[in-house]
Amino acid sequence: MVKTASNGIKEYSMGIAVVILAAGKGTRMNSDLPKVLHPIAQVPMLAHAIKSAQATDPDHIVVVAGHGADTVRKATAEYAPDAQVVLQEEQLGTSHAVAQAKAVLGDYDGDILVLYGDTPFISDQTIADIATARANADLVVLGFHAADPGRYGRLVTDGDTLEKIVEYKDASAEERAITLCNSGVMAARAADMFDWIDATGNENASGEYYLTDCVEIARARDKTASCVICDEAETLGVNSRAQLAEAEAAFQSRARAEAMENGVTLYAPDTVHFAYDTVIGRDTVVEQNVVFAPGVTVESGATIRAFSHLEGCHIARGGIIGPYARLRPGAELSEDVRIGNFVEVKNALIGEGSKVNHLSYVGDAEIGSGSNIGAGTITCNYDGVMKHKTTIGNDVFVGSNTLLVAPVTLGDKSMTATGAVITKDVEAEALAIARVDQVNKPRMAVKLFDILTKRKAKRNSETS
Ligand code: UD1
Ligand code: MG
Repeated sequence: MVKTASNGIKEYSMGIAVVILAAGKGTRMNSDLPKVLHPIAQVPMLAHAIKSAQATDPDHIVVVAGHGADTVRKATAEYAPDAQVVLQEEQLGTSHAVAQAKAVLGDYDGDILVLYGDTPFISDQTIADIATARANADLVVLGFHAADPGRYGRLVTDGDTLEKIVEYKDASAEERAITLCNSGVMAARAADMFDWIDATGNENASGEYYLTDCVEIARARDKTASCVICDEAETLGVNSRAQLAEAEAAFQSRARAEAMENGVTLYAPDTVHFAYDTVIGRDTVVEQNVVFAPGVTVESGATIRAFSHLEGCHIARGGIIGPYARLRPGAELSEDVRIGNFVEVKNALIGEGSKVNHLSYVGDAEIGSGSNIGAGTITCNYDGVMKHKTTIGNDVFVGSNTLLVAPVTLGDKSMTATGAVITKDVEAEALAIARVDQVNKPRMAVKLFDILTKRKAKRNSETS
């Protein structure tokens, strides 16, 4: 039932479909935005659950949407284009929510793994542990020991056997004293889970169809149930803005600790903000106040200097970025590239060892290796309607304050004079000068000063 993957983590061999519950309103968020779309680490909460789902290499991902279903559908399409979204028109409970996935998974013969869209931190290892536990039990529930069990459902166990889950509202005083709680995550064969779900009712304190009732129903049908226990931090759910902030803080502190464990130097860890998918190589140094938006990969031995903002970009070994640099989606920097202060790079390939050190905008461009882009250079990529490409060869020297009016190409080892407005291609090894010639007028400065001073005195006497 379980095989060992090449990375040593056990994974499902029989196929898995992940059902993500995301229909709830999240009343306590006090928001027009559905709860699962509030961001953590710069992506909707839902994207974290989707990422966990994707890590299982599933046959299906099914998102159960209800409140704000249209926007949930859009977000799902962005982060999991292959996922299917089913609608739960009325939120009648977690069992009823999973039942909606039948439309997609009715005759699926693998497992269903249930995740919540508002519980973003279940680790891949924990999911792998659930898969392993499924080898010995028909139903596996993920539990945790709660410091404050509050209103969580309680797991009633006998040795390794999970006997039932009791919701807080329906629990006796004795059951409420149990600190082993239900995270909401559970796994079983799809056919089994749908059978059990069909048998759930809503005669309970909430009048809801409880997914948790599946445990007792399964056991009454001679099926086995067990639980896997994870760290409480993984089960952190978000119900309010305060918990959203806590979740963000928890994510960031974990991401910082992981980065440092992986050999990344953070000068001031609390000031560095990571996205959910940031990847940084060993011996890279990240200075103070750096923000990583989604889609950033930094290789080993790079330096990201203070106050830089990076998104959707790749920095190869030895790059030095910032301070105050902005790398936008599609910035692809080869080894030892140098991007200096107040430089913005978007959708541009920059070759090995090239430098863009000061006050420049490089967008929709390709720059070869060993080139130097002078201070204040702008690629004029947008004509108001369309975007155009700038191509710069190897070992090119672009003079300060050059405007490169795209589409335009600078050949290898060419040069532009300071202040040039380049509208035509420059052939290899040529110098392009495109500016008005300088004229010096002897003594003109003194005369001009004199005229202006007199004009000012006249104006002052008229108004006084
Ligand atoms: C649920 C569990 C409880 C567990 C807790 C962990 C049940 C009956 N109870 O309680 O044992 O300790 O989670 O957080 O399952 N949802 C839908 N449609 C619905 C109802 C819920 O999509 O009709 C979604 C919600 O959006 C949410 C998740 O399912 O993401 C859990 O629902 P919620 O109402 O928060 O359940 P709890 O009462 O917290
Ligand atoms: Mg809840």
